[in-house]
Amino acid sequence: MKLNIAVIKGDGIGPEIVNEALRVLQKTAGLYGHELSLKEVLLGGASIDAFGRPLTDETIEVCRASDAVLMGSIGGDTNTSPWYKLEPHLRPEAGLLGIRKALGLFANLRPAYLYEVLADACPLKKEISAKGFDLLIMRELTGGLYFGERKTVTENGIRKAVDTLTYDENEIRRIAIRAFEIARKRKKKVTSVDKANVLDSSRLWRAVVNEVSADYPDVVLEHMLVDNCAMQLVKDPAQFDVVLTENMFGDILSDEASMITGSIGMLSSASLNDTKLGLYEPSHGSAPDIAGKNIANPIATILSAAMMLRYSFDLDREADDIENAVRTVLNEGFRTKDIYSEGMKELSCSGMGEMIAGHIKGGS
Ligand code: IPM
Ligand code: MG
Repeated sequence: MKLNIAVIKGDGIGPEIVNEALRVLQKTAGLYGHELSLKEVLLGGASIDAFGRPLTDETIEVCRASDAVLMGSIGGDTNTSPWYKLEPHLRPEAGLLGIRKALGLFANLRPAYLYEVLADACPLKKEISAKGFDLLIMRELTGGLYFGERKTVTENGIRKAVDTLTYDENEIRRIAIRAFEIARKRKKKVTSVDKANVLDSSRLWRAVVNEVSADYPDVVLEHMLVDNCAMQLVKDPAQFDVVLTENMFGDILSDEASMITGSIGMLSSASLNDTKLGLYEPSHGSAPDIAGKNIANPIATILSAAMMLRYSFDLDREADDIENAVRTVLNEGFRTKDIYSEGMKELSCSGMGEMIAGHIKGGS
């Protein structure tokens, strides 16, 4: 099979970690008889440096014409990078929001689970982490506060800023359907998170999610207020399977969910539209403080590449092979710096990529 992939290496540690994901993909493709066709394009800070804009038409076109987009992290240090002296619409993050919107990537899947061998890194109390957890945040990605009208004005000498939170029922329905479909393949539970005790948009969210749930009698639905959800994530994360929520709540809760795994360098993500096209990137940021040192953890990006094979190409065997290779390498005691503990064997970013690539078994 020919895999047409647009590659956005990104900023900070982005290029290092994407290179390792590509190494693992090349190895996997070779062993299973697939051909990779890679087209590199720029986004975020790298695009600002080259073209003065965080997102160009060329990047959008190449991504649209591809089957999938593999991306490293984008952005820089907001205190020191010159990118953050630019107008907001010219900063790296505007490029990220722009590509999400241009490709219609409304469904953002962010899995968070506890690796048994890394359980010591979990910041939760032992009696909580001992139960383990395996949840997936399904975050709406192209609506809500992120894309509502906004303005900053001065009225009667007083500065005032406005952001608008809007959802229509179609935007809610399509993401809810995704959540129920995925829950069906997992533990068959959806926790829909909102702020229905205050917000109209949340009351509509709840009503539409209830309507969709009627088509999925085999999936348990519960509603939870977002403040309670933030609390439950640290109190009893094992209760969750699929957590369905709007854009801003999902942004916040997914950082919390990744933190409690103790290993944010391990978490992948997928952003999908209503075709097979998806954008796959690590859940973590661009870590400019360690860029270029060959010490970043490439596993989140490698696992994002596995997600890409699974969701955009239906190559489940190949995706399983990569995920198993990661697990085996961890079980054998290999660690990057961020997840290192005493007695383990420390690897560089490229060393970890090579080690995982070396553990891909191939089909037979
Ligand atoms: C994320 C990031 C982005 C977001 C930023 C960089 C705009 O935090 O993907 O979670 O808020 O969506
Ligand atoms: Mg975020």
